[in-house]
Amino acid sequence: MLPLSIHTIISIASLMLVSLSATAATHSQENPPPPSPQAMHAKLEQIGKDPASLSAALKDGEKAASVCRHCHGAGGNSVLPEVPNLASQNDAYLLEQMNKFVSGQRKSSAFMEGLIKALTPDERIQIALFLSQQPVTRKPAGSTAQSAAGNQLFDKLCAGCHGKNGAGTQKIPRLAGQQVQYVEDSLKRYRSGTGERIDPRMAAYTRNLKDADIQNLAAYLSTMP
Ligand code: HEC
Ligand code: HEC
Repeated sequence: MLPLSIHTIISIASLMLVSLSATAATHSQENPPPPSPQAMHAKLEQIGKDPASLSAALKDGEKAASVCRHCHGAGGNSVLPEVPNLASQNDAYLLEQMNKFVSGQRKSSAFMEGLIKALTPDERIQIALFLSQQPVTRKPAGSTAQSAAGNQLFDKLCAGCHGKNGAGTQKIPRLAGQQVQYVEDSLKRYRSGTGERIDPRMAAYTRNLKDADIQNLAAYLSTMP
């Protein structure tokens, strides 16, 4: 795939939204009120425990996720610095973030919200399951002085929640191998408190970070397999 710029990608997304919004309008006329996030998480868990439902959901998830490849890469392995990897990301975290885009608790430059709103609740669950099972194909970056400083800070401040290996848990995101630019942007958004990303835990843990700390942390995470 050609290394497209984020601006090109946003134009592609606007085009996709035009065709998707037609489908979304039909959904909203036919469907009952959407299930609560709690009900969606319960369903995700239930499907994960039943091999037959899981294998059907993975197939549907692969289909529904085909529009996501333009930015997030094949199988969720992003090649764009501003766009997060989603491959092997934890399923409940993926579902939670999709729901946050829909409810407005998480804000991006408008297109992510539109794309996710065009999905049915079941498609969100299926995509979360599908992406969580995709292998990571990116190669870890090599260590540098910057990443060594990041390693110390990560073990001290972050490993308690995200795990020493950066794998997270069901609801805490995996950070290992994440795109450097995306990690820096995300940490600055939590720190700024301007509302693009709101989470009291991350606000507390980023409040005292300097820009150099953020760069070191991002460099370290990109070295993790
Ligand atoms: C036009 C490019 C583009 C397309 C297409 C796209 N995304 Fe995104 N996505 C982004 C960007 C950029 C971000 C980071 C946004 C931010 O943090 O503000 C993002 C963030 C996300 C996140 C949050 C990840 C995290 O680690 O917190 C999820 C989940 C997600 N996208 C799912 C999807 C799904 C599912 C699709 C397909 C239905 C999709 N995206 C299509 C660009 C895109
Ligand atoms: C108390 C637990 C906790 C600690 C400690 C913590 N985090 Fe987090 N982190 C979370 C949670 C929960 C989220 C998801 C928040 C949300 O919904 O936006 C998150 C999200 C993130 C994200 C966004 C990931 C993505 O895919 O978008 C990054 C990057 C991150 N944390 C890095 C760090 C770093 C670096 C540190 C240490 C300085 C740290 N975290 C410490 C709980 C924690």
